[in-house]
Amino acid sequence: LASTAFVVCAVAPGLGWCAGQDDPGLFAPSRLATATGGVIHPTWFAASGVCAGCHTEIVRQWSGSMHARAHPDPIYLALSRQASVATGGLTDRFCAGCHTPVGVVGAEVPPVGNPLMSRSGIEGVGCDFCHVVDRSTGTGNLPAVLDPGSVKRGPRADAVSPFHQTAHLPLATQAEFCGMCHDVSHPINRLPIEQTYTEWKNGPYNTDDPKTRMLCQDCHMRQQPGKPATGLKPAGRSPGKAAAMGPRREHVFSHWFVGGNAASAALLGPTPQADMARERLAAAATMEILSPEAAGGRLRWTVRVHNTGAGHFLPTGLTELRQMWVETEIADASGTIVHRSGNPGPDGELPPGTHLFTTVLGDAGGKPTHRVWEATSVLKDRRIPPLAHDDALFEVPLDGRWKKPLRLAARLRYRSYSPALAVELIGEGAVAPPIIDMAGAEIDYDPRQTAPATPGRED
Ligand code: HEC
Ligand code: HEC
Ligand code: HEC
Ligand code: HEC
Ligand code: HEC
Repeated sequence: LASTAFVVCAVAPGLGWCAGQDDPGLFAPSRLATATGGVIHPTWFAASGVCAGCHTEIVRQWSGSMHARAHPDPIYLALSRQASVATGGLTDRFCAGCHTPVGVVGAEVPPVGNPLMSRSGIEGVGCDFCHVVDRSTGTGNLPAVLDPGSVKRGPRADAVSPFHQTAHLPLATQAEFCGMCHDVSHPINRLPIEQTYTEWKNGPYNTDDPKTRMLCQDCHMRQQPGKPATGLKPAGRSPGKAAAMGPRREHVFSHWFVGGNAASAALLGPTPQADMARERLAAAATMEILSPEAAGGRLRWTVRVHNTGAGHFLPTGLTELRQMWVETEIADASGTIVHRSGNPGPDGELPPGTHLFTTVLGDAGGKPTHRVWEATSVLKDRRIPPLAHDDALFEVPLDGRWKKPLRLAARLRYRSYSPALAVELIGEGAVAPPIIDMAGAEIDYDPRQTAPATPGRED
């Protein structure tokens, strides 16, 4: 059924036949549109080099980001090719709509990963995409209307440039701007796939009070190296100039666009964003170990993880691929590690039973799948909403030989995807994605001082 609807969209775009879509357009199943109503040749969109002479620092920041790498990203290209093969090419414009909008409105996609693509198409989510958005018709699946040319649209009403006209676009200062793409649902069955914007919208940072309100831009466009800009560590202002010949401003919005991805950005060469992703992840959560209890010969404890820094669920985005998990360790009084859980094995994979904060999508047969085009249901959703917490419960047999007191430790760890998936998508020789420590906790615990353990197992 899904693929029939895709066929209709692909064969008869613009005729209003696209089942399941509100506004089937020329670029369906993507909701992208142009002000002219037609294809716009990619040369109408300037490449970032044109902006770099005056917006030098902004271009430098953006060029190492996942936005700049959204199209050449080997993980994206590999999955998008798999989707294309599985659906006979029907997902091509859908996926590329957000990963290279200029490539789609310029009719350079399909094919996926077109080797002849223009510079501005290759640049993924670039300057002359974001700043030529004329308006949007909502959020999700990129309902943007693009109007490239001499007018650059931005946040300020008083910006004057010798090179281009400027127009004030209030949308650029709202979370809804990011919500055009950072909210993905299956275009046919409407299954919510990535809902970062919706998570934020329903969360505690979306308030009318400027004192408590934090938009995507406040956390992701204030970050600077050493200043992660999260709910836990707000970054404040970065005074400076947005353009060489422009006036000094009290704050210039940064364009590093750092998330959690220290892996994919680095696949295309070194980038400061990899270290900045570590700083961001280390300021996203806190954890504590609660209520250890020894009873019936077993030791039980709780690891509580607080989402103190992220404006959306933790983790968010492609959570069917992302891995955020709890590792635990028990050391006895002699310092010997007597128990471990959640440690990656020799192959780098997590052992069964590891406590993962994640989502699992299901296909039509009810089987787990990370192939979003096959997904028809969400089998599991265990993530932490903004400013909320979730508990992971642990239990092990208590060994009488362990010297008391015990030291219980836990770590919250993150990686963008598993090494096995990296190998599946980019082949042997794929670099294992780095594991990043987000938070940790430890406590000393003496089982003798609390509930009675089974007699005879105590020393
Ligand atoms: C010859 C220099 C120059 C070049 C080249 C240039 N700009 Fe600008 N631009 C400026 C100046 C100056 C300002 C005003 C800055 C200010 O007021 O703080 C500006 C402002 C802007 C703004 C803010 C508009 C607003 O209303 O807030 C955007 C967006 C922008 N430029 C985008 C671009 C893009 C995209 C390119 C490349 C296609 C580009 N500029 C090329 C000089 C330039
Ligand atoms: C993902 C979309 C996106 C991309 C890509 C992007 N920008 Fe921006 N830019 C924004 C948003 C959103 C703002 C306004 C943030 C705010 O005011 O809340 C902004 C602000 C600006 C400003 C005004 C900054 C200020 O604080 O006065 C300039 C100039 C600018 N961008 C130029 C560029 C250039 C040049 C590039 C290419 C390297 C670029 N942008 C890439 C979204 C983007
Ligand atoms: C054209 C669609 C589009 C728009 C609009 C957009 N983004 Fe993105 N963004 C993407 C894509 C696609 C990626 C991921 C690319 C990849 O990983 O291959 C991304 C990646 C990111 C990342 C890095 C994620 C990571 O895992 O490290 C951050 C942070 C981000 N975007 C923030 C924003 C913010 C803030 C805004 C609004 C100012 C915004 N984006 C607007 C498409 C968009
Ligand atoms: C209160 C601060 C805050 C706000 C507001 C916020 N974020 Fe984030 N964001 C974070 C932190 C911290 C992380 C790193 C932890 C994580 O991956 O969730 C993050 C991670 C991300 C990632 C990478 C997710 C991954 O692991 O692949 C994306 C994409 C993103 N944010 C987009 C957005 C968008 C879009 C908005 C607005 C709708 C937004 N963020 C609002 C703090 C914030
Ligand atoms: C509505 C916009 C949108 C559409 C459509 C879309 N994506 Fe994305 N994609 C994003 C955003 C935003 C991110 C970043 C989220 C994050 O980092 O968690 C992303 C990230 C990814 C990543 C992670 C890359 C990495 O290096 O970790 C892959 C893979 C990906 N997308 C593949 C696809 C495929 C395949 C399709 C089509 C079936 C698709 N996307 C359609 C917006 C979109």
